[in-house]
Amino acid sequence: MYRITLIPGDGIGPSIVDAAVQVIAATGVQITWDRQLAGMAAVDHGGNPLPDETLESIRTNRLCFKGPLTTPVGGGYRSVNVTLRQAFNLYANVRPAVSFEGTDTIFKNVNLMTVRENTEGLYAGIEHFIQVDGEKIAAESMAIVTRKGSERIIRYAFEYARKAQRKKVTLVHKANILKCTSGLFLEIGRDIAREYPEIEFDDRIVDACCMQLVMKPESFDVIVTTNLFGDILSDLAAGLIGGLGLTAGANIGTDAAIFEAVHGSAPDIAGQGIANPTAMILAGAMMLEHLGESAAAKKIEQAVRDVIREGKVVTPDLKKDSPHGTRDITEAIIAKIKA
Ligand code: NAI
Ligand code: MG
Repeated sequence: MYRITLIPGDGIGPSIVDAAVQVIAATGVQITWDRQLAGMAAVDHGGNPLPDETLESIRTNRLCFKGPLTTPVGGGYRSVNVTLRQAFNLYANVRPAVSFEGTDTIFKNVNLMTVRENTEGLYAGIEHFIQVDGEKIAAESMAIVTRKGSERIIRYAFEYARKAQRKKVTLVHKANILKCTSGLFLEIGRDIAREYPEIEFDDRIVDACCMQLVMKPESFDVIVTTNLFGDILSDLAAGLIGGLGLTAGANIGTDAAIFEAVHGSAPDIAGQGIANPTAMILAGAMMLEHLGESAAAKKIEQAVRDVIREGKVVTPDLKKDSPHGTRDITEAIIAKIKA
């Protein structure tokens, strides 16, 4: 019996989290869900977007399954996701992008893993305006890249590659221009790569990497990169396999691990019953894998892949004008698991 903090989230969050919880239950793995609030849902309940009870629950359980949270753009409160990453030292953001049979995408053979540094870089959030006579004349931001932070994320990528029997790690940077921050990251990557002679290592400048990813995605295996580049590249990778509705991610740290969909709260389709729960369900599979429940994880992934390949009961983001919604695809996946 596992005890895991459950945050339903905002917008489409509660519906896809509910779907994922039912799919996990269908595997027979016993989980006690410790339901907690965060984001807009928490604000609506009393003010604080990240209540102390929620933090305490994650601190105790060390595992959290989280729906997407709405973050106000520009002003408003600070991103709860970013706060959680820093509070629990969730230094590795891990996002697989593996092609699905049955999706309408250009490439059919994408199989890559993005390992993004999740606590440093430009996301350190050290920024300010410079004002003269009340007018903002400039804005400055500081990117932080530490040896410790770089070593642990790059080592995480190589250890993952070794365990998953992957062949290559590509480090993505902009060291030609950002000679200090990207330069240090690349230098450390080259050093650590020598400890893993069985794994091929190369590096790419981020802009060239984007072009190669959309031309020859099959030439990538594991990508390791700094925070902002990883944010952008992992969305690009999600697009290669059919969109955000299909991509899951894990935030792995020293003090806890949080599993979630890559996409946001999708306010444009919230409440319509048509959100694709696949990403959230696959996040559940990643969490089971993390717990050592590999058989259950594989069962879920296979069921999801079968339903999408058959293409009969899929949400409208996968098949235009499909009459099927979140509930239908969830039931189809559960039926496969139980079959
Ligand atoms: P979004 O990912 O919510 O939506 C982008 C587009 O993809 C929309 O057209 C949406 O309808 C569609 N989409 C996303 N997930 C889908 C699904 N499961 N099924 C079908 N269609 C789906 O990104 P957006 O609109 O930029 O952000 C909305 C809110 O979510 C913002 O407040 C943002 O800060 C937050 N957000 C939260 C994240 C998290 O909690 N991890 C991650 C990304 C955004
Ligand atoms: Mg993002």
